[in-house]
Amino acid sequence: MIWKTRITKITGIKYPVVMGAFGGWGKSKFASSFSNAGGLGIIAALNFPNLEDFKIDLQNMKNLTDKPFGVNLSLPHHTLMDTNEDKKTKKRYLEYLEVALNENIKIFTTSGFKAKFLGDRIHQAGGYWFHKCVLIKHAVAAEKDGADAVTLVGLEGTGFKNPFSNTTLINITMAKKLLKIPIIAAGGIGDARGYLSALALGADAVCFGTALMITKECPVALNIKKKWLNMDIFDEDFYNRIFHYNVKNFMSPSMALGHRKEIVPVKAFIEEIIDGAEKILKLWGFKTEEFSTL
Ligand SMILES: Cc1cc2nc3c(=O)[nH]c(=O)nc-3n(C[C@H](O)[C@H](O)[C@H](O)COP(=O)(O)O)c2cc1C
Repeated sequence: MIWKTRITKITGIKYPVVMGAFGGWGKSKFASSFSNAGGLGIIAALNFPNLEDFKIDLQNMKNLTDKPFGVNLSLPHHTLMDTNEDKKTKKRYLEYLEVALNENIKIFTTSGFKAKFLGDRIHQAGGYWFHKCVLIKHAVAAEKDGADAVTLVGLEGTGFKNPFSNTTLINITMAKKLLKIPIIAAGGIGDARGYLSALALGADAVCFGTALMITKECPVALNIKKKWLNMDIFDEDFYNRIFHYNVKNFMSPSMALGHRKEIVPVKAFIEEIIDGAEKILKLWGFKTEEFSTL
């Protein structure tokens, strides 16, 4: 089946699936497996302590895939004001951005507060700016700031949380009513039903974080993957880590873990999601060979 959404149209990816930004792990080897499987692989720029290593990894990515991919710039989660320290931080981000632009990268994802200074430079260079946030009001602000798409992370997901986070269900259905730009759904999605329902809620693509941690190519240690696979997502401690706002636990895997039963290659993971979704659509009586939300 051919999958068409506003995000596949902007990016040129085969399936409307986007790799999460992974501090520590989002480098070319892992990201290229996602791009080669038909999604948008993401290299997290700040994984590289210096600009030269970042540039080398971008070049490596181009050797590993000829498919579309993007670069993430995760900003600190406090407002960047105009102090000297903040000016230095902004300058550093702009330097990473410049390296990527020089490598002809066209798709950028940002996360955190006050990303407009990056978005403006991305647009000036002819690229696309997707901003990730957890609150609908921040998504509305990102649209006003000129973002080309927003990723909304629901409460059941992982990553930085906000005390006023909503669930993926509320986020996407409400954002669909409030925004004109494409929406990428993230948070707690780890199987074909989750993927398909996110598109039904109004998303133009789905972003996977935790579920991808359990793939073969993810550079997390095997014993940790196995520990995660054996976790009881209905356990009280697990619940508290995910649903009770506590920034110290922002790297905890999310409810999406419950959908993963074994460690599989990224290609098999994406095929499972897409094939599963196509089977469900057929069961529902969907007859055409094209799924389009355009
Ligand atoms: C190990 C790990 C590291 C992450 N690092 C970052 C990061 O550096 N920047 C960011 O914006 N999001 C980060 N995230 C969040 C993901 O990009 C994604 O938004 C989130 O995992 C989606 O929810 P899910 O885990 O339920 O799929 C990370 C997630 C995980 C699991």
